[in-house]
Amino acid sequence: EDYQLGNYANFMHKEIWEQPESVRRALLGRLDERFGTARLGGINQDPRALRGIRRVKFFGCGSAYYAGQLGANLVEEWARLPADAEPASELRYRNPVVEDDTLYVAISQSGETADTLAAVQELRRKGGQVIGMVNTVGSAIARECGKGVFLHAGPEVSVASTKAYTNMGVCFAMLALALARIRDLSVSDGSRIVAGLDALPSLITEVLAAEDEISAVAKEHSGAERMFFIGRVRGWPVAREGAQKLKEISYVHAEAYQAGELKHGPLALIEPAMPSVVIVPDDELLTKNIGTIEQIKARGGPVIAVTNASLPEGLADSVIRVPRGEPELDPILFTIPLQVFAYHLAHHLGRDIDKPRNLAKSVTVE
Ligand code: AGP
Repeated sequence: EDYQLGNYANFMHKEIWEQPESVRRALLGRLDERFGTARLGGINQDPRALRGIRRVKFFGCGSAYYAGQLGANLVEEWARLPADAEPASELRYRNPVVEDDTLYVAISQSGETADTLAAVQELRRKGGQVIGMVNTVGSAIARECGKGVFLHAGPEVSVASTKAYTNMGVCFAMLALALARIRDLSVSDGSRIVAGLDALPSLITEVLAAEDEISAVAKEHSGAERMFFIGRVRGWPVAREGAQKLKEISYVHAEAYQAGELKHGPLALIEPAMPSVVIVPDDELLTKNIGTIEQIKARGGPVIAVTNASLPEGLADSVIRVPRGEPELDPILFTIPLQVFAYHLAHHLGRDIDKPRNLAKSVTVE
């Protein structure tokens, strides 16, 4: 159609670079600076209806499911409502308990993923309150949900999702903010988050400006046959999506693990041929994450730290720097350098980046 490659070598690279603009589109007309909140036309804005929600369940497949974990964390942190994420492929078959006061959020770039569509149908059949957070207008999931929030990422061609994933995070942040501001989140905290969302496009531009340095780190590690991606709490969805991007397009075996779980088994895998990408936001868990890096180093494992903190000199073998934003939004921002890392590692290995083997852009069959 009229979505062209232009001067880019492939669509994944183009879509990575489109992110400042696509995030701007997702935010357009949806932020309310005065009240420090977000207005999402597709959900019932009546405060009493929103206050009736007692739990939020996100569901989708693959990266959409990982994005859902990011969304669930924000809903819990800001709105103090219990929230979680589940793969739609599980939800559809496990006969879920459906509650009246739960908001079910179906997530999909294509809007055509068979498992996600089936989960929507099962929940709706049981009377569940389902909204769609979908990128493709007029798609099956958008139509089945009937209401929801469009991601406005624009067309995404590359099998590996980038800009749609990021816009999922941005739209979940706005949903969490709206739910939080009719509960206990203060105007000043709301305004801080609105400003933080507004700042995201320029922070993403800063990340992308460091592409050459990230590419050099990727090249250095392109001989590895396997890698760990380690994060905790805010870093956990980042680690999962980072591992997902790397395995999809480079075929390097990448496993995401929660930092605190390493000592319960996976530490046995650490050795010089197993680099770990460790997500280290400068938040209240910084010293814990530094401890994790020390544990890995003590066992001879190379470490690539992805951080906006000033780490002790020589702690990590390579450092990918991320600019500072609002800490709760770090999971959105920290994923961008990992997209760039996966892209360049796959590029160094000569992979067919837009069309990785065995994968389809949208999985419309079971
Ligand atoms: C993302 O990089 C993957 N290609 C894949 O996990 C994808 O997110 C998943 O298939 C869900 O697709 P959807 O968002 O179109 O429903």
